[in-house]
Amino acid sequence: MHFENSLSFTQQLDKQDSLSHFRDRFFIPKVNGKDSIYLCGNSLGLQPKSAMEHIDVELDDWAKLGVEGHVHGKNPWLYYHHFTQDALAKLVGANKNEVVAMGSLTNNLHLLMVSFYRPTKERYKILIENRPFPSNQYAVTSQAKFHGFDESAIIEMQPREGEYTLRTEDILAKIEEHKNELALVIFGGVHFYTGQLFDMKTITEAAHNAGANCGFDLAHAMGNIPMQLHNWNVDFACWCSYKYLNSGPGGVAGIFVHEKHHKNDSLPRFNGWWGHNEKDRFKMEATYESMHTAESWQMSNAPVFAMAIHKASLEIIDEAGIDNMRKKSLQLTAFLEFLLTEKRKEKNLQFDILTPSNENERGCQISLSFKENGKQIFDKLTKAGVIADWREPGVIRIAPVPLYNSFEDVWQFVNLF
Ligand SMILES: Cc1ncc(COP(=O)(O)O)c(C=O)c1O
Repeated sequence: MHFENSLSFTQQLDKQDSLSHFRDRFFIPKVNGKDSIYLCGNSLGLQPKSAMEHIDVELDDWAKLGVEGHVHGKNPWLYYHHFTQDALAKLVGANKNEVVAMGSLTNNLHLLMVSFYRPTKERYKILIENRPFPSNQYAVTSQAKFHGFDESAIIEMQPREGEYTLRTEDILAKIEEHKNELALVIFGGVHFYTGQLFDMKTITEAAHNAGANCGFDLAHAMGNIPMQLHNWNVDFACWCSYKYLNSGPGGVAGIFVHEKHHKNDSLPRFNGWWGHNEKDRFKMEATYESMHTAESWQMSNAPVFAMAIHKASLEIIDEAGIDNMRKKSLQLTAFLEFLLTEKRKEKNLQFDILTPSNENERGCQISLSFKENGKQIFDKLTKAGVIADWREPGVIRIAPVPLYNSFEDVWQFVNLF
């Protein structure tokens, strides 16, 4: 990609951007009375302007219909999770029956591990990426303990000396090294700290060849990069919706379970009534009958208000199309990297870019690691109207989101250094 470091070139990129009109569909937070430069979609995505209307529809039905809204509402609440399945399936590359919006991310990870972490005396280890998100670390360790193993059941990958990210060849070598004792391989799709996008297809294949199950935490991948979980033969995945799915703080999460597992009734699972066969659910019978879809992992009825926001946001994402979003994202992130590299030279700034420069190994996030003065620089940027993200001990994470960030956002941001 050819880039120039000038405002006119930047504005030209915005003019050519076929997704630029989507920015108007979101509220941009203000700082000092002006639109902020919001580069924090990796933490909390922006509010779709349509969110309120979607909630109002449900509030109105509740006010007018009371309990009847379950069946006679405009979007009958009993089936609310169906309204997001098409869009979610497209985002992860799955059949509709392989995905469902439900619960919260860490809870879902535990529920999925009930089914897919089945350790034996010989095969009980879990392979995870370097420095996984703490909640995942706690989840896998507590699952191992639940089954009577200690922390030594967890194998955490480490980058090579002097490197920040993992090489796929090293992940494969680690799987091979532990092939007789691995029960589960679980990685983030995109690493929350470094922004590294993992090769999910290759990792899944290697895990399966070793005889282990393979799952992904897609918190930083959903709505960021296109995926093909079904074809990649991934066993399971879970995600949250408050980052690139713009569905609000603590918004409803979601899961993927590969079709090949749906009819396996010997798979252990923690059941609830929403996983019971939908047709007979209200017969309220004591014996559980599985839906035989990803919906079987549901426990409770849908949190309709959270799902209303989710639905509002997914409609926008579906309209934009994940492939179009990725196309713009590749250019937007490469532009950010180009400008940062120029600025580092110009001002002799002391930071490293942790995120791979290969576009196939990253999503929209770039992480900068400062040896010194990182916090001062971050505070200066914040004062100037940037909303980004600080991670101890010295990392600023920046995520230009193709749906609502412009090339000019990125240009303005880098010029504030
Ligand atoms: C990669 C990753 N995994 C797990 C979580 C935990 O999410 P939750 O609090 O929704 O369970 C987060 C939250 O930001 C995350 O970024």
